[in-house]
Amino acid sequence: MKFFLDTANLDQIKAARELGVLDGITTNPSLVAQEGREFTSLISEICKLVPGPVSAEVTATDCEGMLREARELAKIAPNVVIKLPTIAEGVKALVRCRAAGLNVNMTLCFQASQALIVAKAGANYVSPFIGRFDDISMPGMEVIHDIRQIYDNYGFKTEILAASLRHPLHVVEAAKAGADVATMPYAVFEKLLKHPLTDIGLERFLADWKKAGAGR
Ligand code: E4P
Repeated sequence: MKFFLDTANLDQIKAARELGVLDGITTNPSLVAQEGREFTSLISEICKLVPGPVSAEVTATDCEGMLREARELAKIAPNVVIKLPTIAEGVKALVRCRAAGLNVNMTLCFQASQALIVAKAGANYVSPFIGRFDDISMPGMEVIHDIRQIYDNYGFKTEILAASLRHPLHVVEAAKAGADVATMPYAVFEKLLKHPLTDIGLERFLADWKKAGAGR
């Protein structure tokens, strides 16, 4: 499973990169707005920090507008992935972006039928939003299971990018469901490696070692 960080914050990206297991970045208009920075230069800096795919989202809602933004975003760096909303205009733009050789991540996917359409249209990634289902007391992870089965049935190459992950269990469940990528906030990324028994165990090993004067 690939790990992407879902942020536009440079400090978080630098910190996560240190661990050596960061494969890419996803951003969205809300995350970019939080940084109070000019969009193009921020995406450019992120692309320099992380050599993997960096999703940058359009804000137009019509196909021609999306394509105009996509062409500009693609000029920023070769690792930019154009993020388009999973609506009819977005699918039209997806087909044309792919024909132009641009990589595309279809965002705001909430049902398997949407994922089927965008795979047929050649999307590189589809982003089902898990946490937003949980927010309305619906089992979001089922969508990933359904998409996995459909993609495997037909050999679609579109990668399933589990998004809107709110805690480590979401990441584990997405991995069990066969998602290709998990994108997560820095706070979730940090928690993946943490377990109190690991800390307690290490503390005890080191205390025993010290008490016995071992290693001298
Ligand atoms: C994915 O690409 C989105 O940016 C993101 O995961 C949305 O997460 P949220 O529902 O926590 O805002």
